[in-house]
Amino acid sequence: EKGNYKHFMEKEMHEQPEVIQHTLAHYVDFASGKIRFKEKLPFDFADLNRIAMSACGTAYYAGVVAKYWFEKLARIPVEIDVASEFRYREMPMEKGGLALFISQSGETADTLACLRYCRAQGQHIASIVNVTESTIARESDAIFPTLAGPEIGVASTKAFTCQLSVLLALAIMAGRARGTITEQEEQSYTQALSELPKFIRQALKGSDDIAALAHDLSKVKHVLYLGRGTNFPLAMEGALKLKEISYIHAEGYAAGELKHGPIALIDETMPVVVIAPDDPSYEKTVSNMQEVAARDGKIILITDQSGADKNALEDCQTIVMPTVPDIIAPIVFALPVQLLAYHTANLMGTDVDQPRNLAKSVTVE
Ligand code: F6R
Repeated sequence: EKGNYKHFMEKEMHEQPEVIQHTLAHYVDFASGKIRFKEKLPFDFADLNRIAMSACGTAYYAGVVAKYWFEKLARIPVEIDVASEFRYREMPMEKGGLALFISQSGETADTLACLRYCRAQGQHIASIVNVTESTIARESDAIFPTLAGPEIGVASTKAFTCQLSVLLALAIMAGRARGTITEQEEQSYTQALSELPKFIRQALKGSDDIAALAHDLSKVKHVLYLGRGTNFPLAMEGALKLKEISYIHAEGYAAGELKHGPIALIDETMPVVVIAPDDPSYEKTVSNMQEVAARDGKIILITDQSGADKNALEDCQTIVMPTVPDIIAPIVFALPVQLLAYHTANLMGTDVDQPRNLAKSVTVE
């Protein structure tokens, strides 16, 4: 039931504060500020030399964000690839490694094929799934559930932010197991996690302002999304979301790659969405925005208040997000990216919940 919402996607975006809270309660003991997962893990993060991750689509982008987290907090190298490539790569794997799969449905054919490949390679198999009765869950040694509830809209929203929440909790857990973060750091990260539902709620309040920006976006043919660090996978996720529900062509790029090719596309007809909270990479992204502005590119900047204050570009539309700890920014900044795609598609009158040519679960190769 959609209740008062026009689409399941809209309803599911608005469910995010609750379902993230619910999911986090499974992984975090907020009273002590510690990560706690009730089940015993069949592997030890302290023993791992590497994690191999694999997933498709939006779940893959969650994995790319998590690569930055695991490498920073737990100092574990992470290999990640889309499942349709991973399964045929014949990746060499040392026995006893961890293979981690991310899937809302738990039925995606390519992801399942990777799981079976990794099983044959003697890996520990763990999966982050929303459907715990799924094939991927059944074939895993450890299941890390997202408690997002059923996701009906074909475009993944609440499953994505729940996947990110679980992945961050796991990266913190791994960091503690490996001694690469201190107990105090664990507490400050879990404190940040505990504030997520509040920040997501604030982000949702920006929905009407974003709907106003979507008017211009609904008239264009191409959109470029840029971001650095964990904002890079968010840029790719933003582009995916826009193309799948509005059918506008969109590309996500690492902001630093702009001058290596995509800058040739910039003119006044192709808006550039820049995802850039005022984190340590902000100044560099600002210089990329100047390059865009100098070529008459129209910018939509998604940032926080201090990022907005520092930005001197005149012709730039800004979405101002709450100021949040850097570590959780990718989860909070997923919201405006979803909302922008949603409102654009809604204005265009596409079938938001059932976009053409797409299926919710891709059980064939
Ligand atoms: C995008 C989207 C798809 C899925 C992908 C993986 O909005 O929904 O890209 O993320 O098909 O599906 P799961 O997570 O079920 O393996």
